[in-house]
Amino acid sequence: MCGIVGYIGKKQAAPVLLDGLSKLEYRGYDSAGVAVLNPAGGIDIVKAKGRLKVLSDAIDGGKKLKGTCGIGHTRWATHGEPSENNAHPHCNDEKTIVAVHNGIIENYAELKAKLIRRGYGFYSQTDTEVATKLVDYYYKKYNDPLQAISQFALRVRGSYALAVMYKDFPETVFAIRKDSPMIIGVEKGESFLASDVPAILKYTKNVYYVDNLQIAKLEIGGVKFYNLDRDEVKNELVEITWDAEAAEKGGYEHFMLKEIHEQPRVITDTFNYVYKNGEIDFSEVGLSDGILKYVKGIVIVGCGSAYHAGMVMQYVTEDLARVPVRVELASEYRYRNPVTNGELVIVISQSGETADSLAALRSAKEKGLKTLAIVNVLGSSIAREADFVFYTKAGPEISVATTKAYSAQLVAGYLLAIKLASVRGTITQDYCKTLLDELCSLPEKVAALLENKHLIQKFASETMDKKDVFFVGRGTDYAACIEGSLKLKEISYIHSEAYAAGELKHGTISLIENGTLVFGVLTQPDLIEKTVSNLVETQSRGALTAAIATEGVKLPDVGFEKVFSIPHTDVHFTTSLAAIPMQLFAYYLSVLRGNDVDKPRNLAKSVTVE
Ligand code: F6R
Repeated sequence: MCGIVGYIGKKQAAPVLLDGLSKLEYRGYDSAGVAVLNPAGGIDIVKAKGRLKVLSDAIDGGKKLKGTCGIGHTRWATHGEPSENNAHPHCNDEKTIVAVHNGIIENYAELKAKLIRRGYGFYSQTDTEVATKLVDYYYKKYNDPLQAISQFALRVRGSYALAVMYKDFPETVFAIRKDSPMIIGVEKGESFLASDVPAILKYTKNVYYVDNLQIAKLEIGGVKFYNLDRDEVKNELVEITWDAEAAEKGGYEHFMLKEIHEQPRVITDTFNYVYKNGEIDFSEVGLSDGILKYVKGIVIVGCGSAYHAGMVMQYVTEDLARVPVRVELASEYRYRNPVTNGELVIVISQSGETADSLAALRSAKEKGLKTLAIVNVLGSSIAREADFVFYTKAGPEISVATTKAYSAQLVAGYLLAIKLASVRGTITQDYCKTLLDELCSLPEKVAALLENKHLIQKFASETMDKKDVFFVGRGTDYAACIEGSLKLKEISYIHSEAYAAGELKHGTISLIENGTLVFGVLTQPDLIEKTVSNLVETQSRGALTAAIATEGVKLPDVGFEKVFSIPHTDVHFTTSLAAIPMQLFAYYLSVLRGNDVDKPRNLAKSVTVE
C-alpha cells in the first residue's frame, strides 16, 4: 500500500529511487513519481500514471534527472482517482518544498479549508497536497524545517509516513512517521529511506526502524533523529540478517510460486525459533510459563489470512490446552466493547503494520490486557507495541497473496497450543513429544506435496472456466477452506465461498448449479462421513466435487472428480498440508487466466489504512 523511498549520497538519486520503488511494487500501486534536487538548486518532479515502467521510460531509467538527493513514491489511491496529477510527490506553489506520503490524513478537509482561508490553492484532490502545504505554511511561519514538520505532526490526525525535501536544504531529506511503516538505511556516508527493507537491501543491511512521531534528518554522512520538541534522540541500528536474494524471484516465474516453495524451510525455521534441547522454550518470546499456566482465556485477532490462521489456532488450542479461545476480526474487535476477563490477546500479522490489527492491539492494551504479537516483520509497529513477540521466520514476503507467512503463523499457533497444554498439564509428556516429532516432519511432507504440483496444475487447466468454486469442511478443515477460498478469489478473480459443511444447506446450497466446483477438505477422521454427505448433497444439485484428503484414509465411493492426497500427520496439523494444494490451485488458475499473480487488482500487501 503506497511505497516511499528516499536517497541522499554520492550516486545519482533517480536510478536508486526507481530501483527502490521497483522493490516496493508488490505493495500495490496505480501511479508513481520522483523528485530530485537538481545541481542548479531547483527541484525536478516527474510523475506518471500506471506502471513504474511508464515513469522509468519518461526519465530514461533515471538518467534524465540529475542530482544526488531525492524522494520517490508509488501511490495506491485513497483521496482522488489514480492520475498523474494526484500522483506524488506533491509540492508547494513555489516548488521549494516537495513531499511524498503514505497513509491517510483524517482531518485533511478541515486543514485544507484552513489553508484555503490563508490563501492557498490546490491542484489535486489528495490529502498529501494538503500535508505538503501545511508543512509549507509552518516553514514560512517558523523558518525552521524541523519545526515545520513537528508542527505538522501536532496538527494532523491519521497515519502517515512522510518524506520532505526543502530547496533551502539541498543535501537533506526529512521524514516522520505515525502508524505507517518507515525504515532508514545507512552505508558509507549514504542514507536511504523506504517503506520496507527490500527497497534498500541491495545497498545496505544497516537499518533504523523509525519510532512513531520521530523525525529523521538524512544527510550525507548519516542520520539524526529528533522528538517533536526537536531534541535529538537515539535510535538503535539493526542489522538485517537476510540478503537481497531473499527478496528476489530466484528463478521462479512469480514471487508467489517461490514463496510457496519456501514453505518447508519457513516451517523449520519457525519451529527452531522456540524448539531448544527437545522442548519448547519461549524465553525469546518473553512469555513465562506462569502467564501461560494461569491465563484465563485467549482472544486472537487478525485480518484476512492472519485471521484464518487464528481460526486454526482456536480449534487446536482449545482441544489441546482446554483454554477458552475466541478469534475475532481485528476490524471488529477494535470497535467493540468486549467483556474482558484477564485474557491474553494475540495479534497475528505478517506485516506488523495492518491498521486494524494495530488498533486492536492498542485497544487490548488500554483494557489492561497482556498482548502477544505473532509477527513476521522485525521492528514493525505491532511487534514493538506488543508485550511479547513471537517472530515467524518466513523472511520477506513479496507476493500480495500470503502463503509462507500464513504457514509460519500456523506453526507458531501449534507451538503455542502445545506449550500451553504442556504447562497446564492437559496433555501427557509422551503426547507432547509425539506432537513435536510430528511438527518436525511437517517440512518434508510439504516438500513431498510440492513435488506433485503438476497434478494440481492439470486440474486447474481443466477447471479454469469455472465461475464459482466452493470449499467445504468441518473443524480445522473449515478454517483451511476459508483460507483456500480467499486465496482463490483474490488472485484468480473467480467467485468463491467457503462454508462450514453443515451450514451449506441453511441457504447457500441454492447457489449450487450444474458444474459448480465444490472442494471438500477431509482430514478430520471423525468428521469425514458428515462432510462427504454434504458433498453428496451438492452432487445431487449438479456440482462437480473434488476432495483433499489424508492418504490411506478410505473415502466413501461417491464419485469425486478428483482426490488430492496429503501425507498423514497429527489431526491438529493437517491445515498446514491441506493449504498447499489450495495455494497451488489458486496460483495456477491465476496464471492460466493471465492475471498479475503477485499484484492482484485492487489489493495491497500491507493495509496500513482502515
Ligand atoms: C491474503 C492476505 C491478506 C492478509 C491481511 C493481513 O492473501 O495476504 O488477507 O493476510 O491483509 O495482513 P497482515 O498479516 O500483514 O496483518
